[in-house]
Amino acid sequence: MRVVVTGGSGQLARAIQETWSGHEVLLPPETELDLTKPEAIRTVLQTLKPQAVVNAGAFTQVDRCETEEGLATLVNGTAVAWLAESCDALKATLIQISTDYVFDGTATRPYREDDPTHPVSAYGHSKLRGEENAALAQRHLIVRTAWLYDAWGKNFFLTMVNAARQGRALRVVDDQRGTPTSCRALARQLHGALNEGWQGIVHGTCGGDTTWHGFAAEIFRQMDMSVDLSPCTTAEYPTPAKRPAYSVLAGGRRKTLGTDLMPTWEEALEEVVAAFRSAEAAR
Ligand SMILES: NC(=O)c1ccc[n+]([C@@H]2O[C@H](COP(=O)([O-])OP(=O)(O)OC[C@H]3O[C@@H](n4cnc5c(N)ncnc54)[C@H](OP(=O)(O)O)[C@@H]3O)[C@@H](O)[C@H]2O)c1
Repeated sequence: MRVVVTGGSGQLARAIQETWSGHEVLLPPETELDLTKPEAIRTVLQTLKPQAVVNAGAFTQVDRCETEEGLATLVNGTAVAWLAESCDALKATLIQISTDYVFDGTATRPYREDDPTHPVSAYGHSKLRGEENAALAQRHLIVRTAWLYDAWGKNFFLTMVNAARQGRALRVVDDQRGTPTSCRALARQLHGALNEGWQGIVHGTCGGDTTWHGFAAEIFRQMDMSVDLSPCTTAEYPTPAKRPAYSVLAGGRRKTLGTDLMPTWEEALEEVVAAFRSAEAAR
């Protein structure tokens, strides 16, 4: 199958490129497949004629989305309707990557796919618009994920490792609960989902849950780093965008659709730590 992935320079797109086999995976540069330009979307997809499109491109800077809500809505929301239109014209499947931030975080048990959404940030609103527009495509799969990281890209894992290497004392929020998810684990699940023809909305996070502080502690434990790490509250570390306090996603629907490939978040971290170490050793 020929698959076009948007947001080709992003961390999830790279994981798809590195882990998918048996498909022709194309990652047009963002200058060509610019999600703010409907004509560019139409032209690129009509030229490449993919059987599937993975929309991994997004305006992902959650705090910036608060002050640039128009751009966030355009890239994360409106553009998905243009992708859906092009996918229908080609009879292609649209795989839309969405987020735990479509929920408000007031739940006391993991969110299921059919729980009511209620975003509390501009980013969350724009991604929810993206879900609604993806659902317009005749063949669509909406995969909600969370707390993405890998051995490359801009993410919490690399931020923590770099900060610790500078010898800094670190205070990390301990009252937001979610699930760290490696891009490579998610990419393998997306590959399986496409091969098995999954449709609708499905949650795509690793197993288990923790806080950002818990994630940091496990990163340092697995990296054998001794770090002056202490917990703090969200109130002590205010950000422009509100984050859900609890955004654990239930993964039960994966098993009803086919093969659940998601490891626990600790197992996924072990794999990323090993990859990070071997990349450093190779330098
Ligand atoms: N990161 C997370 O923790 C997280 C959590 C839940 C869901 N998600 C979702 O997962 C997906 C993949 O995220 P990620 O972590 O891989 O993000 P990422 O590394 O920020 O990648 C997103 C990519 O989209 C590109 N992009 C931005 N504006 C664009 C435009 N107008 N046209 C084309 N491409 C554009 C970005 O390019 P520039 O870098 O040049 O702007 C970047 O390469 C996104 O849909 C995101 O919303 C992410």
